Amino acid sequence: MQTAKESTRADDREGAIADTVARVREIESTQGVSPQSLEAIKGELMKLATRTELFPVEDFPPPEQAAGHPSCLYLLSEDDDHRFALYANSTNRRYVNAPHNHTTWAVIVGVHGEEPNRLYKRTDDGGVEETGMTVVKQGTGVAFMPDELHSLDIPGGAPMLNFHMYGLAIPQLFKREYYNAREHSWHYYPPHTDIRDARTGSLEAGSEKTGSGQSA
Ligand SMILES: [Fe+2]
Repeated sequence: MQTAKESTRADDREGAIADTVARVREIESTQGVSPQSLEAIKGELMKLATRTELFPVEDFPPPEQAAGHPSCLYLLSEDDDHRFALYANSTNRRYVNAPHNHTTWAVIVGVHGEEPNRLYKRTDDGGVEETGMTVVKQGTGVAFMPDELHSLDIPGGAPMLNFHMYGLAIPQLFKREYYNAREHSWHYYPPHTDIRDARTGSLEAGSEKTGSGQSA
């Protein structure tokens, strides 16, 4: 049973998310997908991220220690056609993944804690070269065109909650590539990830876990 305070928070959160996603749709519709439009989308998500009272870690707890994957994604919004998917990535454990692309645009913005992102470019010999590192935290973010590469290098030890927004929902992304440095080879991520539906109505019914295993 939700308390009145929690109910108000959920309602306020739903409204703030809907307003932000509406502006993101508008930006993409009028400006298309470019580094410039993604900066504008990042700005909208950073404004939403300042509403920390609407996104307490207690509402989006990290996976239990027994869970196989150290982080999970809470689905906050997704259109009926699976466009404009907004997630909250939650963890308090060390989590590192391989360099990967998304095959759709992606924007990551900090809410609580720090999420170091390593940036890469492809090399002529079929590998990757690290080009930089940016720490996503409150007041910062990073945006990726569909073919751009990054990896997460989260130290753990403290709660972390960040927004990850994608042009298309992760379960619809069948050809996200990641690089296996040991084998010097590229592979596709499995389409599903640890996604828990946290949209209003879903939380009251209990979160739904779909699939397991792969990264954001
Ligand atoms: Fe990613």
